[in-house]
Amino acid sequence: MNTIDIASIDLSAPAPVNEPERQYYYIAKARACVAKKAKEIGRELTFTVTTFGCQMNARDSEKLVGILEQIGYREEADEEQADFVIYNTCTVRENANQRVYGRLGQLHHIKKSKPHMMIGLCGCMMQEPEVVEKLKKSYRFVDLIFGTHNIYKFAELVATRLESDRMVIDVWKDTDKIVEDLPSERKFSFKSGVNIMFGCNNFCSYCIVPYVRGRERSRNPEDIIREIERLVADGVVEIMLLGQNVNSYGKNLAEPISFAKLLQKVEKIQGLERIRFMTSHPKDLSDELIEVMKNSTKICRHLHLPIQSGSTRILEKMNRRYSKEQYLELVDKIKTAVPDISLTTDIIVGFPGETEEDFLETMDVVKRVRYDSAFTFIYSKRTGTPAAVMEEQVSPDVIKDRFDRLLTEVQKISAEVCAVHEGTVAEALIESVNDHDHRLVTGRLSNNLLVHLPGDASMIGKLLPIHLKECKGFYYIGEAVQ
Ligand code: SAH
Ligand code: SF4
Ligand code: F3S
Repeated sequence: MNTIDIASIDLSAPAPVNEPERQYYYIAKARACVAKKAKEIGRELTFTVTTFGCQMNARDSEKLVGILEQIGYREEADEEQADFVIYNTCTVRENANQRVYGRLGQLHHIKKSKPHMMIGLCGCMMQEPEVVEKLKKSYRFVDLIFGTHNIYKFAELVATRLESDRMVIDVWKDTDKIVEDLPSERKFSFKSGVNIMFGCNNFCSYCIVPYVRGRERSRNPEDIIREIERLVADGVVEIMLLGQNVNSYGKNLAEPISFAKLLQKVEKIQGLERIRFMTSHPKDLSDELIEVMKNSTKICRHLHLPIQSGSTRILEKMNRRYSKEQYLELVDKIKTAVPDISLTTDIIVGFPGETEEDFLETMDVVKRVRYDSAFTFIYSKRTGTPAAVMEEQVSPDVIKDRFDRLLTEVQKISAEVCAVHEGTVAEALIESVNDHDHRLVTGRLSNNLLVHLPGDASMIGKLLPIHLKECKGFYYIGEAVQ
């Protein structure tokens, strides 16, 4: 998606002020530095980008990879061998942070025997001032630290680090800026995430995302459509529209537009076969959207609709702004309009003040909705969020017991729900050769379930009708229909 010829950039001129031109200038600058270093050591320089967290971070990592490749680094599979290691971090739960510190310890060890190795940290964790303080104090071997708001400046930051020998730190509190048309390198040739908005304004009381991703900003529909058209021209058949709450897309644009309207525009793109989106907040899911899903031939039969808790009392304390009954009504409406829809959800167990009765309400919703799958999380206290200072934090033993009961129920139901498609033929997008058995390939059905079938790499990226022979709980064993 490169719009500027890097080789033609005049590095003796001062850096342009406007974006994205400024970043292309720094790509050229860093590229010259990297080429020089490569010559010195007699081989190409390499990188790895490790992504923690959600789809949003995965998409950001593709942007980092795109820039690194333009700078002249080559992707390396083995982190220990790489010259530049980047962690794109997540901080939604405490254990995500612990993993990063653990791995940084190991990296320090490697860096001692390989001093020219560079370590970069970015993503949501870096937006927390305490984290950056800790890194500055006890992790001096880190080379580059930046946050979620200035990821577009990555080339400039790399160039700065390559030209100095100091730790480079650049973290912004918030931004209203969206920079378009920077390079990015897709992980898959046939599918891609597409950001439609950034940030979140919902402030669910347990959640740190609004503090680390800033205020909600929607991209212009024209920019989104243009990006998807380019992706399709480049071989992409499936896209996933990304936002923390896609249902509030477009409300704050100069010319407001609804998410449902955006979907209708995207649907018209010739050559695009499948549309997914993530995540839908139940409070903003409109009848208009349900109608568009019902009539669409491209929107996948899958809706991720996080409930978080089935207890209206807890939902209120969570600041989710819907009740158990409203959620169930919404589910009914969707199932009536789109009977073959697959529903998935997120559930938090052990939110402060959650009683056994509250928990049973959650179990009740799980039994009534019968989710295809549910991501279950143990409540994690995030400093700075309202829930962190709520009284009645639930004891770990009680949480563990509830979590186990919930997981058992979720898994039992999801195996039953998954099995209903056994014996039918459904279209799958073939995504990869199976890691464990190279005679098999793995495809994704419209409802997001996976199917393993005999095949080879030539099938990757194709949409094929598959006979779903046997359900194995969470996935199928199938066979391509000739
Ligand atoms: N924007 C999305 C969710 C992003 S975070 C939405 O509103 O649905 C993904 C999931 O992490 C959330 O749905 C929630 O279930 C979980 N989560 C967020 N904060 C958490 C916390 N403090 N403890 C445990 N789980 C949390
Ligand atoms: Fe977090 Fe709520 Fe925003 Fe989702 S909608 S990112 S859970 S604050
Ligand atoms: Fe994690 Fe940030 Fe996503 S905190 S879940 S990576 S928005």
